[in-house]
Amino acid sequence: MTEPLLKVENLQTQFRTEGGLVKAVDDVSFEVQPGETFALVGESGCGKSVTALSIMGLIPNPPGEIVSGKIEFNGVDLLKLSGREMREIRGSKIGMIFQEPMSSLNPVLTIQSQLTEALRIHTDLSKNATNDRAVELVDMVGIADAKTRMKQYPHQLSGGQRQRIMIAMAMSCTPQLLIADEATTALDVTIQAQILDLMKDVTEQSGTALLIITHNLGIVARYANRVAVMYAGQLREVGEAVEMYTEPRHPYTIGLLRSVPRLDSEKGTPLAPIAGEIPDLTNLPSGCAFSPRCGWAVDKCFEESPLLEETSSGKKVACFEHQSVALNVQ
Ligand SMILES: Nc1ncnc2c1ncn2[C@@H]1O[C@H](COP(=O)(O)OP(=O)(O)OP(=O)(O)O)[C@@H](O)[C@H]1O
Ligand SMILES: [Mg+2]
Repeated sequence: MTEPLLKVENLQTQFRTEGGLVKAVDDVSFEVQPGETFALVGESGCGKSVTALSIMGLIPNPPGEIVSGKIEFNGVDLLKLSGREMREIRGSKIGMIFQEPMSSLNPVLTIQSQLTEALRIHTDLSKNATNDRAVELVDMVGIADAKTRMKQYPHQLSGGQRQRIMIAMAMSCTPQLLIADEATTALDVTIQAQILDLMKDVTEQSGTALLIITHNLGIVARYANRVAVMYAGQLREVGEAVEMYTEPRHPYTIGLLRSVPRLDSEKGTPLAPIAGEIPDLTNLPSGCAFSPRCGWAVDKCFEESPLLEETSSGKKVACFEHQSVALNVQ
């Protein structure tokens, strides 16, 4: 077994708000292996972006704080690094595509100046070499006429092209890890698939590991090696992507699968959104956080919170009832 590239251990990130303490990430542990594609999936507000921002050292403090845990990258605990050391890693070793592409691109700077920024900061390349690399990056992400694009501004590109530029920027220094937070959500479905294919291609070519964050479990089927399903700040199921589709164990995973179109479902299969809403993170229900929405909950589920435990197949599930759930599904 190779050493993981990223190892998140018992991470807890909280926000102090007027409404109370928000436990956005609550005891989350997972590993990303070098070169693999790992997907973090869950509904809106479940803590996916806060997990990503914690890894990047970008939690605004106050109101946020990482109160415990470890984030090891190449064996180094990122939480112990200085601001300067973390800036060095950000953009060079770990690239990130943020959830809001328009707000991440600067409207008054040319594509060239935005694409070369990280190279200017993190490498000793000459001006010419940096500009050549920018053209190469635009080519790499499949935008025609790369040289002309250099002088253009973000508003002169389509939404899909801007997203491609974001990928090019994040990949400019060939990072070991690329974090893509809902990188395709704003795009139409065909373009979403193209952008995901592109991310998969460019990361595979350079051996970069990819952490895909999405609310759509249906979409990651083709792309991820492993999937972690997050609910109310906690991981509820972690396993091989294929297994997550063929043998989902947690009732929340099953709910997520039924609520999105699947590539393998028969035409006309009705979608079934999960009833109810995610709980208020300042005031979680006692017991399992999913119990108020769960069709399989028994008394114990309203009293105790199940831990993430390994099943005989090597998958991890946090559910007291997952064996009977699995039987009910088949
Ligand atoms: N700066 C902040 N101040 C206060 N609360 C915050 C802050 N950032 C995030 N939160 C809270 O943390 C929780 C998790 O948010 P997060 O952005 O990680 O959700 P998400 O899973 O990324 O959702 P989405 O799919 O909508 O992007 C939410 O309850 C959110 O309100
Ligand atoms: Mg988010």
